[in-house]
Amino acid sequence: MIDLSINFAGIKSPNPFWLASAPPTNSGYQIMKAFEAGWGGAVWKTLGVPVVNVSSRYGSVNYRNTKMMGFNNIELITDRPLADNLREIEEVKKYFPDHAIIASLMVETRAEWIQIIKDVENAGADGIELNFGCPHGMCERGMGSAVGQEPEVLKTIVSWVKEAANIPVITKLTPNISEIVYPGLAAVQGGTDAISLINTIKSIVGIDLDSYAPYPVVDGKGTNGGYCGPAVKPIAMNMLKDLAQHPEINKVPLSGIGGIETWRDVVEFILLGATSVQVCTAVMHYGFGIVREMEAGLRQFMEEKNYTTIYDFAGKALPNVTEWKHLNLKHKVVAEINEAKCIGCELCYISCDDGAHQAIALSDDLSIRIPSIIEANCVGCNLCSLVCPVEDCITMVQRDDGTENLTWHERTLNDDIPVTLDDDRAGGKHHFVPKPSDALKNKR
Ligand SMILES: Cc1cc2nc3c(=O)[nH]c(=O)nc-3n(C[C@H](O)[C@H](O)[C@H](O)COP(=O)(O)O)c2cc1C
Ligand code: SF4
Ligand code: SF4
Repeated sequence: MIDLSINFAGIKSPNPFWLASAPPTNSGYQIMKAFEAGWGGAVWKTLGVPVVNVSSRYGSVNYRNTKMMGFNNIELITDRPLADNLREIEEVKKYFPDHAIIASLMVETRAEWIQIIKDVENAGADGIELNFGCPHGMCERGMGSAVGQEPEVLKTIVSWVKEAANIPVITKLTPNISEIVYPGLAAVQGGTDAISLINTIKSIVGIDLDSYAPYPVVDGKGTNGGYCGPAVKPIAMNMLKDLAQHPEINKVPLSGIGGIETWRDVVEFILLGATSVQVCTAVMHYGFGIVREMEAGLRQFMEEKNYTTIYDFAGKALPNVTEWKHLNLKHKVVAEINEAKCIGCELCYISCDDGAHQAIALSDDLSIRIPSIIEANCVGCNLCSLVCPVEDCITMVQRDDGTENLTWHERTLNDDIPVTLDDDRAGGKHHFVPKPSDALKNKR
């Protein structure tokens, strides 16, 4: 019997699906609607001294036919009075006592932190999330990412909060930093009960070609915004992995955020060590109903793999995420074209010839449009299989017999690595490369 419930640093939730602190958690109305739809928890839109927002707030990157592949905002924390938010937290908790409500907070002084912690505890919040991530507006006022980028300041504030709080504290990190481990470690040293990541990435999504101002344009001007949505998922997963593999940091639970939209995204974040996930952009795009597909897909995955709880597979991918130097240099794959599926678009030929390793040939007979792989030239880079528009038409097939394993690390220990500029042991030394003048021969 599958049990999706979690206990995240003491915060209980019927499932790992939480709404991230953002417009979908701006009011009790929205959160009640989300819980009804199936979300297990919600991180309330960040509370603090209410702000004044600008009009024209969002921008996006549309990629080909996909709208909002990346999403960008210049909104600040809540603009609603604290008393209204507290009253609504209390009300939602009455209707949904078993769901998780986490109050996201951002204030400035120690006295303000102590006061607002008491306020949200009295309202019945199950936990607190510290917003050290907002990369626009609030950081100019010394809050948000201005804290997340300064590990010592972050640690001090976490310790103030921990001193005052009686409910679990999650520290939400900014990705706008070169090494996520430093703020992660500072949060743990400050005593945080858990970490969530990522907040949005500092960005400009485009320039309006009439006003010459960045989107979203506010009366002829713009500013950097926070980037999120499907485009940021790879960055979020890499940072999650960095924290999940760190022996000090991984003592606290991690909540994964960034580009999550489908059940598969959820599973991938859990495999990298998250034990709850948070979603913003996908809900802003498609509404609360997406949780139904997430739950059904997660359940099916767990059933197929024989898992009972999400703790059975949390972090299972981590042992396989290693450093480059530990990868097997003896592993060899080459591209193979399934001629029955090929539609003869020749995109693989163009990609390999112009952008990779000249390992795909076209027939001299113009009536034959199916390319062929020159296996001796193929380095197994995968590019052709990635660009091919037909599913499973180009597959990468293994050519080594799987018995040999030799890594760069081992070669270094054996003193068997290229060290001169013309070293015979270099990988590309004996590999086929056409003559420069071959470029001028008319092929097709
Ligand atoms: C319009 C908008 C407003 C946001 N406001 C907040 C906020 O008040 N507090 C906060 O911690 N994060 C805020 N975020 C960041 C999200 O909680 C989340 O970390 C980020 O969007 C990445 O998740 P996603 O890719 O699912 O959107 C906001 C995001 C958006 C798009
Ligand atoms: S890209 Fe795929 S479909 Fe197009 S020619 Fe190459 S193998 Fe065929
Ligand atoms: S895998 Fe790379 S090198 Fe091999 S054929 Fe495809 S694009 Fe060319």
